[in-house]
Amino acid sequence: MNISLPNSVERVLLDEATIQQRVQQMADIISTDYAGLRNEEFLLVGVLKGSFMFMADLARRLTVPHRVDFIALSSYEDSAEATGAVRMIMDTRVDVARRHVLIVEDIVDTGYTLQYLYRIFGARQPASLRTAVLLSKPDQRKVEVPVDYLGFQIPDVWVVGYGLDFADRFRTLPYIAMLKPSVYSK
Ligand code: XMP
Ligand code: MG
Repeated sequence: MNISLPNSVERVLLDEATIQQRVQQMADIISTDYAGLRNEEFLLVGVLKGSFMFMADLARRLTVPHRVDFIALSSYEDSAEATGAVRMIMDTRVDVARRHVLIVEDIVDTGYTLQYLYRIFGARQPASLRTAVLLSKPDQRKVEVPVDYLGFQIPDVWVVGYGLDFADRFRTLPYIAMLKPSVYSK
């Protein structure tokens, strides 16, 4: 099949098949690690908006009972600039206390967002707290944060697609791509 890319896309970093294959592997490992828990005990917490596709694909491939919830944070204000400041816009509905919590995040860059999440959720007495992150840009790390389940390491470039955006655009591309420099100067 010959897929024509949108004009703005410079290069596809991770194509759809590559992503789906890795998400399946992650789901298999997570299903093994969380085997034996009841639905009420295992809670996936997705970080909106970026993790929505990863969450949907990962969760439907899990073979163990689980619940799904979301939080919304603001960190980068419609630009590729890191502020380091993280703010919660929407909290979970499910009480995380005594539950095995798996935070589902799109990407770890400086590490400030995950550090914030570990602090907030760690203080709420979960039975356990781990993270599943699709992408990591290791070159950009400012604070060391553990990632329990990682999809891919990528170079320090801004990526879009599969939930990730530039100014809230390109989120629903089924692959992860780099944009042409001209897109940023518009
Ligand atoms: P930190 O720096 O806190 O960053 O680890 C995590 C958050 O930064 C956003 N981010 C990106 N979003 N393309 C995006 O669409 C990128 O290349 C990118 N790099 C960082 C993202 O919201 C993530 O949750
Ligand atoms: Mg995010």
